[in-house]
Amino acid sequence: MTEAIRVERLHKRYAAVHALRGVDFAVARGEFFGLLGPNGAGKTTLIGILAGLVRPTAGRAAVMGHDVRRQWRAARRSLGLVPQELVYDPFFTVREILWLQSGYFGHGRENRAWIEELLEVLDLADKADANLQELSGGMKRRVLIAQALVHRPPVVVLDEPTAGVDVELRQALWRFTRRLHAEGHTIVLTTHYLEEAEALCERIAILDHGSLRALDTKAGLLARHPWRCLCLELEPPDAALPEAVARLVTERDGGRVRLRLHRLHDQIGAVLESLRAAGVRVRDLHTEEPGLEEVFLELIHEGAPAQAAEAQA
Ligand SMILES: Nc1ncnc2c1ncn2[C@@H]1O[C@H](COP(=O)(O)OP(=O)(O)O)[C@@H](O)[C@H]1O
Ligand SMILES: [Mg+2]
Repeated sequence: MTEAIRVERLHKRYAAVHALRGVDFAVARGEFFGLLGPNGAGKTTLIGILAGLVRPTAGRAAVMGHDVRRQWRAARRSLGLVPQELVYDPFFTVREILWLQSGYFGHGRENRAWIEELLEVLDLADKADANLQELSGGMKRRVLIAQALVHRPPVVVLDEPTAGVDVELRQALWRFTRRLHAEGHTIVLTTHYLEEAEALCERIAILDHGSLRALDTKAGLLARHPWRCLCLELEPPDAALPEAVARLVTERDGGRVRLRLHRLHDQIGAVLESLRAAGVRVRDLHTEEPGLEEVFLELIHEGAPAQAAEAQA
């Protein structure tokens, strides 16, 4: 058994909302996995099912080989969840919360050194005896991370941990999750920041309207869309473009023009030739790779017409 997570034909309906529509995937042990999708895609629902907080309508899910329903306790022990919402009990101190969580998972005094280490690593030592309500939003988020790790779970799931946090804390969270990954943890990170998934994740699943649109490495996702951008600086800036070039334009700002070419090598010569024939001078040119954001938008758009048709039916 080398899988940290397996999800099969997973469905979730909340009354009128079909939040998950038959999702299948597996995450290998030790993988840094990204779950990406716009708001409302079903990310938190999927994670809730893995953590035993949401009951699936149909299908199966397992964490470290333990079925989340039939072997709830073992599955829950294998997973540390950093929730999206800042939920906390204002009457406890940071250290008390960690001890309570530790006790909930059946740990005793032997866990003391680990709790103190978490306080240290997450820069919470100074605030260990402060009540949670006295802490800033960023500090509360650090407490949620410590809580998720208190029982030393092999799988760590972070649900939009950087939404609304400042740059400094975001950098600290990235460093910390990278460290957990290097120490052998399986990491599942949900985010709607593409640059974050791009920087951290080995494989990325794109979820939209409850269905997986794609699941691949970053390079694999980019390779599905082999177009390139050709950026030109034209003289004169208000030059009229020949039709063959005008239809490739995605952006224009005066003399600066951005074209999308599906077959760069075949098209670039034709573009330059057609500009020359029209008397337009090219002062400068370079090409750019499409980013994950452009690929993501294209995938989400591909899915949109089918969803709209289904909603109408
Ligand atoms: N407890 C709930 N009751 C009813 N609808 C819900 C509930 N939780 C989520 N939803 C709906 O399910 C869909 C998926 O939500 P969610 O899983 O939170 O998506 P994401 O985390 O990707 O933003 C949304 O349409 C949301 O409104
Ligand atoms: Mg969410």
